[in-house]
Amino acid sequence: MSSLLFRLLVSASASALLLAGCALPPPRPAAAEPAPVTLREAFRGIFHLGVAVSQSQFSGRNVADAAVIVREFDALSPENVLKWESVHPGVTRYNFAPADQYVEFGTTHGMFIVGHNLVWHSQTPAWVFQNADGTAISREALLARMRDHIMAVVGRYRGRIAGWDVVNEAIADYGGYRQSPWFRIIGQDYLLKAYQFAHEADPAAELYYNDYSLEVPAKRATAVELVKYLQAGGVHLTGVGLQGHYKLDANTPSVRAIEDTITTFAGLGLKVMITELDIDVLPGRPGADLNARQSGVGADPYRAGLPADVQQALAKRYADVFAVYLRHRESITRVTFWGLNDAQSWLKDFPFANRVNHPLLFDRQNQPKPAFAAVLAAPRLAGVSARPAP
Ligand code: GLA
Repeated sequence: MSSLLFRLLVSASASALLLAGCALPPPRPAAAEPAPVTLREAFRGIFHLGVAVSQSQFSGRNVADAAVIVREFDALSPENVLKWESVHPGVTRYNFAPADQYVEFGTTHGMFIVGHNLVWHSQTPAWVFQNADGTAISREALLARMRDHIMAVVGRYRGRIAGWDVVNEAIADYGGYRQSPWFRIIGQDYLLKAYQFAHEADPAAELYYNDYSLEVPAKRATAVELVKYLQAGGVHLTGVGLQGHYKLDANTPSVRAIEDTITTFAGLGLKVMITELDIDVLPGRPGADLNARQSGVGADPYRAGLPADVQQALAKRYADVFAVYLRHRESITRVTFWGLNDAQSWLKDFPFANRVNHPLLFDRQNQPKPAFAAVLAAPRLAGVSARPAP
């Protein structure tokens, strides 16, 4: 049937209906997109949503956790298996099997795979900074050791690990460079060298500087100095990772400080990532921590579960920080949670051991908490729509 004939027939039957006193049915609105039910759907095309995973989760031992991880997230960070002590435990001994499994898991599930981390003062064996006889290593020997490590580890996953936390936590708590063995033995240019070696090992990989509490102005000022130093040195620096270990207590850091930190680093031409997000709901170490509560309040008040009002406060805090992230979605490329569920979180043992913390979106049975619903709804509330599934 020609389209002209078809249109004539349609309009003739419409006129007939009108003449018969029957109004035409109103045009049907385009089918509304169903509300997303997973984080992965809700944030598709906005920024990556990631999670730090442990060996039991990506090795297939913990099937329940693995199912939630692939359902909800599209980016992975390794909680421990790529740290120096794990992947390179002896001078000539590498332990790649767990890291291989991690990368395999991410590849199988089409995830953005992060490497964490290459140069850090912590979880790095003492031998790294010593000669075989226990004496202090020279600058040249430590640089050679750093290069060997980076070439071996980054080189092995070239083209598969998309971005690396090259240097982790190089800044002291209240500003100034951390006097780590790297700094003391090599000097400030250990920073330049680490990025040069990583770029040499995989020229296509994104390279990040990663640190905590950059919301604290003095620490942030040194981080800005560090970034400018790297940029002036001509190294390949793609972005900065703001770890995002927040507190519920006193809303520390404030959303204002979080926002200022994001805009500061975006203003230096860097991608910004929130790389280790969690919100500690417990009081700090009484008498020994800036966030310590008044005496008389228990240090472990939520052993029996998180009361409904604190659940709501946690959800609200997550909603508030995600509103900031979404406002800066042009600069933010990824938000990664440090762990899948409350059972996995390192915060049960920090700043002191054996407490029952509740910092993440899923509880100990992998049930979504009110905080999950808050994060899921955040794009809609911010008026940002996820890209439809391909
Ligand atoms: C730091 C490190 C992470 C992890 C967390 C807490 O932020 O970057 O690898 O160790 O501490 O566990």
